[in-house]
Amino acid sequence: MPLICVCSPKGGVGKTTLTANLAYAFSRAGSKVLAIDFDVQNALRLHFGVPLSDTRGFVAKATETADWSQFVLTTGGNLFVLPYGEATEPQRVAFEERLTHDEHFLTRGLSSLLNYPGLIVIADFPPGPSPALKAMSRLADLHLIPLMADTASLS
Ligand SMILES: Nc1ncnc2c1ncn2[C@@H]1O[C@H](COP(=O)(O)OP(=O)(O)OP(=O)(O)O)[C@@H](O)[C@H]1O
Ligand SMILES: [Mg+2]
Repeated sequence: MPLICVCSPKGGVGKTTLTANLAYAFSRAGSKVLAIDFDVQNALRLHFGVPLSDTRGFVAKATETADWSQFVLTTGGNLFVLPYGEATEPQRVAFEERLTHDEHFLTRGLSSLLNYPGLIVIADFPPGPSPALKAMSRLADLHLIPLMADTASLS
């Protein structure tokens, strides 16, 4: 179960684009791939043809659902996406609080997915630090960190 986190201190540097293209490339090469969106912008699913009007996702019901695999969408072939989905402010806050204070919350929610044989998991994050990135980093095999070709990033 390789788990890749695509994250960066910078915004707008191609994290979501990289996540989507890597997921697609791995699936085209024959692997089963799950792309997870931890960004409230909920944009990752758009790369896989999920309509803008589709509000489905895992965050809204994450605190009351033990197994988040039921929120996974099939995009065709070997490629699956777990969208952030539409969530109210209280739902988002509750999700982030559980991520922060319950160290088993994430592994429990994702456990059936993380234990799926051979599944490559690629997770997209909002810019900067976040409770989701902190929790996922404990499980990650690799972090991919796009930056800008500017002085601050180089420094
Ligand atoms: N390799 C690339 N070359 C040129 N433009 C790119 C490349 N990757 C992404 N872009 C463009 O950069 C913009 C930002 O991309 P993207 O949304 O993937 O960034 P992001 O880091 O996920 O942003 P955010 O921090 O808001 O989540 C988009 O317009 C995208 O098309
Ligand atoms: Mg993004």
